[in-house]
Amino acid sequence: MRLDVVSIFPEYLEPLNVSLVGKARSRGVLDVRVHDLRDWTHDRHHTVDDTPYGGGPGMVMKPEPWGEALDHVLASGEPAHGRPVLVVPTPSGRPFTQELAVELSGEPWLVFTPARYEGIDRRVIEEYGERLDVREVSIGDYVLAGGEAPVLVMVEAIARLLPGVLGNAASHQDDSFAPGAMADLLEGPVYTKPPEWRGRGIPEVLLSGHHGRIARWRRDQAFARTTDHRPDLIERCDPDTLDKHDRAALEELGWHRDAEDGHWQRPAGE
Ligand code: ADE
Repeated sequence: MRLDVVSIFPEYLEPLNVSLVGKARSRGVLDVRVHDLRDWTHDRHHTVDDTPYGGGPGMVMKPEPWGEALDHVLASGEPAHGRPVLVVPTPSGRPFTQELAVELSGEPWLVFTPARYEGIDRRVIEEYGERLDVREVSIGDYVLAGGEAPVLVMVEAIARLLPGVLGNAASHQDDSFAPGAMADLLEGPVYTKPPEWRGRGIPEVLLSGHHGRIARWRRDQAFARTTDHRPDLIERCDPDTLDKHDRAALEELGWHRDAEDGHWQRPAGE
């Protein structure tokens, strides 16, 4: 997979040389190219921003450097890669989810355009939206100073899904939010050696060697954790995907099924 990132802070993207993403690069799974937006400015001060039309606080990123930078990146593409998907981090984008990470991990070429200030002149998004699949994406309901940290977040979520990047091929199949097995439940607690640490032991069932009981215990723990941290995931889960043990676990945690639509709910205030 090829990834291009255009930023006024290329050094902010140094973590792409480290750990999982760094290893994927050195193994040739990922071809990452970071570009300095200011290379496409032509004035002495390398200006990339200006005041907003219509007034208001802050500055807006000028369209010309972005246009030249993106034209340069697009022209450098190899025919095999086709056209890239353009990923624009912005707090006003669609939420970045595991589902989107999976979708983007299937693309041969992604271009990220992390912005600073109040964002990029809208005409840039419109212009490239005519030629490319453009995704405006938010990593969460908070406002950061720029899109570089969101790029690091998204690239890590995408890179670990690429074949040959994670040591254990099965290990992302039961991630919290992974489509499939533990779908829509948060993962419960995990333990490793030593068997006793500061007087604390390991839940007996994990030492039993009984795979069926262990799987059931993990799922019960996942229901408990999801109830505490993300009850919304249980409220919107498809009740038909739950077996009788799951239903008993939810009832134990204070959930009951809505008489009309069959979804799980808890009395308000719990
Ligand atoms: N830029 C600033 N805040 C952001 C967010 N929450 N997601 C994506 N890009 C951003």
